[in-house]
Amino acid sequence: MNEHDYAVILAAGKGTRMHSQIPKVLHTILGEPMLSLVLHAARNIFSDRVFVVAGHGAEAIKAAFPDANIILQTVQLGTGHALLSALPNLKQAQARRVTILNGDVPLLTPHLLQHFIGESADADLAFATIILDDPASYGRVVRKDGRVCAIVEAKDYDEAAFGPPTGEVNAGLYNFDLEKIAPLVPLIENTNASGEYYITDLVELALKKGLDVKGCPMPDSCSLLGVNSPKELAACEDHLATTVTECLLQKGVCLHNPGAVRISPLVEVEPGANISGPCEIFGDTHILSGAVIEAFCQIADSRIDAARIHSFCHIRGATIAQGCRVGPFARLRPGAVLEENVHVGDFVELKQTLMHPGAKANHLSYLGDSEIGMNTNIGAGTITCNYDGRKKHRTNIGQNVFIGSNTALVAPVAIGNGATVGAGSTITKNVPENDLGIARAKQVNLPWPKK
Ligand code: UD1
Ligand code: CA
Repeated sequence: MNEHDYAVILAAGKGTRMHSQIPKVLHTILGEPMLSLVLHAARNIFSDRVFVVAGHGAEAIKAAFPDANIILQTVQLGTGHALLSALPNLKQAQARRVTILNGDVPLLTPHLLQHFIGESADADLAFATIILDDPASYGRVVRKDGRVCAIVEAKDYDEAAFGPPTGEVNAGLYNFDLEKIAPLVPLIENTNASGEYYITDLVELALKKGLDVKGCPMPDSCSLLGVNSPKELAACEDHLATTVTECLLQKGVCLHNPGAVRISPLVEVEPGANISGPCEIFGDTHILSGAVIEAFCQIADSRIDAARIHSFCHIRGATIAQGCRVGPFARLRPGAVLEENVHVGDFVELKQTLMHPGAKANHLSYLGDSEIGMNTNIGAGTITCNYDGRKKHRTNIGQNVFIGSNTALVAPVAIGNGATVGAGSTITKNVPENDLGIARAKQVNLPWPKK
């Protein structure tokens, strides 16, 4: 692509058929907002020369994609009007060739996008087509003697005028010469069944001007399916999950119950990793060779080396080094960092906590805003009391420390290397190196009258 090639993603629509307050393009597929998948494909080819037209829920879209070049379509009058809203930015950027993508086509791959752009190169206006058994709500492609005459929206399709639909539909992907097409955009009218300005009317307008218009049949129709309803979202998600697992199996990742493994296409999994379904692995996650992820885990935005994650763990924003054992039933929250051979057992929650090599917290603990030294053992029921109702405070625990069971460490507090804390203590003062810190009422045994 050269510096004058731009992409525009149309993402301002309401998504009425989703019956949701959330803008349609923020609905997720394998944990990724649809727009993130479309942006990923577009940026792969156009790098930063990608605009996003937002309108309905624009603030939420801006918040989710702070680095996107957003163009505002203040009222959503249709896809043709969305393009009209983008023209000033395209002209200012000195764009020459423009690709338009619908924001609700989340399975689009960079490879297919590149293929389409290649096919379009010699046309003034080109659009991608797919063949469907049921053309449903897609715009129907009308051809005469093989040449494109129009795209007619489902609601406006009159069989008497156009003949029975052939199954060839518009995939919502366009490519054109901006200088030739820009003057036609304000000519689009809204005299149709929806009362909307349709981008698809450009086909007839361009043909009338004698321009060269091309409908490019695409080899892979699944990758261009649009999402307009929860049912279509579920179908796309299933399709993508299968594509991802097939690709992982192909490259040497071991998957058990693969039909129940849900991994985002943006997750990186190395050959030699071993993952059991059902599970969900989303976001900016990297699973290295030798990692074993047992069933029923949810993992996002984490890096997991050759460690074993037992069943029923929730892991988000964590880093887990090799030799670690986590769970079952552990919860690692953002900023949990486990260095080599750390053990985190059942019902242990970690947040913003660094555990140095060999440290262990095997049962029933909350460790937040803390650092735990090498080979330190955290007894069952230990809580770092990191919040005083207003501010968060840190707990620092040295190496080779033994924290007895049922200890409350009231932060800010530090426990020196080699120290021991007696079970049941509420520690409010630092414990020096190698000392025994104990803070609980002394036991008294009193005579008790026999019955
Ligand atoms: C559109 C096409 C249809 C095609 C289908 C492919 C039109 C008129 N029809 O139909 O031919 O087969 O996509 O998936 O374009 N949008 C805006 N601003 C608006 C309206 C919509 O940005 O004012 C955005 C939406 O957020 C969406 C995209 O444009 O991402 C497509 O709009 P949508 O309403 O989903 O069009 P379809 O009815 O699916
Ligand atoms: Ca659509």
